Amino acid sequence: MKKYYITTPIYYVNDRPHLGHASTTIWADVQARFQRMTGREVFFLTGLDEHGTKVQQTAKKRGVEPQAHADEMAASFRNLWKQLHISNDDFVRTSEPRHKKVVQKVLQELHDRGEIYLAEHEGWYSARAEQFVTEKEMVNGKFPEIYGDVVKISEKNYFFKMGQYQSWLVEYLKGNPGFLQPDSRRNEILGFLSQPLGDLCISRPKSRLSWGIEMPFDKDYVTYVWFDALINYISVPGYGEARFKEFWPADVHLIGKEIITPHAIYWPAMLKAIGIDLPRQMFAHGWWLFGNAKMSKTLGNVKDPIELIQSYDADAVRYFVCRELQLAGDSNYTDELFKQRYDSELANDLGNLVNRSISMLQRYRSGKLPAVGSQGTGDDELQKQAAETVEFYLENMPLFQYGRVLERTGRLVQRANQYVEENAPWKLAKDAGLAGRLDTVLNRLVEVVYTLGTLLSPFLPETSPKIAAQLQVPGFIFSKKDLSCLKSLKPQHQTGQPTPLFPRSEPKK
Ligand code: MSP
Repeated sequence: MKKYYITTPIYYVNDRPHLGHASTTIWADVQARFQRMTGREVFFLTGLDEHGTKVQQTAKKRGVEPQAHADEMAASFRNLWKQLHISNDDFVRTSEPRHKKVVQKVLQELHDRGEIYLAEHEGWYSARAEQFVTEKEMVNGKFPEIYGDVVKISEKNYFFKMGQYQSWLVEYLKGNPGFLQPDSRRNEILGFLSQPLGDLCISRPKSRLSWGIEMPFDKDYVTYVWFDALINYISVPGYGEARFKEFWPADVHLIGKEIITPHAIYWPAMLKAIGIDLPRQMFAHGWWLFGNAKMSKTLGNVKDPIELIQSYDADAVRYFVCRELQLAGDSNYTDELFKQRYDSELANDLGNLVNRSISMLQRYRSGKLPAVGSQGTGDDELQKQAAETVEFYLENMPLFQYGRVLERTGRLVQRANQYVEENAPWKLAKDAGLAGRLDTVLNRLVEVVYTLGTLLSPFLPETSPKIAAQLQVPGFIFSKKDLSCLKSLKPQHQTGQPTPLFPRSEPKK
């Protein structure tokens, strides 16, 4: 059976990861965990883009070989993913033989079929963006800052006949509106495609760049880093092997918005030329801004995710980037906002609800879940809101609308806390005649806690097992039949002891 296959961009190894890289990987991890929870077999791929001018330059500056530099960075990425509980199934590095082999196979096939040609080329080249840029991109006679130093160079290079796929691609994008999401990004790409699309320069002379994959038909050249990198999505699942069909087409390529052009133009054209299906969907999310500019190593305005994990914990970081980073727009990172979300939504609202529900059940019923007794204030509203939250969740999770999903689960938490206040179980407990009413309130609260534990488990892999342990259930899973997570616990179910979920509302440091 075909697996649900999701990817992140493979990150450059010129520096250590910052919160931007961590965010895309967390987003993909949440989707992978969600899909697994609904019973699908998942293949979740992330990794590193190790070739190219920038990496060669960085290694040279540090006085080490590019491979040694890449090894060091790889350890730092792996460590971060481990600390963030990233559940990737594979980790690709483009310097690995398994990847190089497929890049060369694709190049040879395309060359044999006349899709690649050699030509003299003169143009403006940006080492920072690893690409030739055209004068059209100049603003007031200067190239934008994102390109760094741009120099004019003239050289012979290999070109992929990308231009011939332009009208096919336009039709494809128009006919498959779900392919590139959100819609605003598709419109951007369609706008770009209203200008003639040239061919793609896919080689670099070794005299200028040696750190890359050698062209199989010309040993004086290495492969352009983007052509090399995109192929990771098919090299890992074994393009050319029988197992490939268990993975391809990928279900989702999750990326940041600045790399839409290679993903939505180069990559579809490459796949079309190779003769394989396009991925089903691409989602391009917005940026973290930090001090009103894009968070980036080049500008130096980065937030170190390790620091945040040490001050709070991994779930706090995961929760925050899912709550705040947006799909369509950009988001401003501030330490104050991080603390505010943690204190109010995790520690106060969620932590308090779970703790008081489990505590009261212990105190009043020795932890044994009572059957529903008499009806009263807010019962139906609470149940209705829980059911609506589940429905909203199931609809919006596959669309990466995490901010909206967490806002809705947060409202359910608040509603449940309000239900406690309205029904005041501590008063009901004092009157034996109201025992049936207390039974209902305790039952409903535990049910909501169970529902929330389920819904939040892709986001909070450290916290949700703690909720499960307090409820004394093995874990949270949707029933495959109706994906329902409501009414999962039977009366007389024995729950455990309460322990605080977010013990400090003050960060550790
Ligand atoms: N190596 C290429 C991708 C090749 S994929 C075949 C690359 N690498 S990168 O290291 O620059 O990583 C870019 C990705 O990191 C973005 O697309 C995004 O997923 C993430 N982010 C980097 N900075 C970011 C922000 N400021 N905000 C949000 N995400 C950002 O491009």
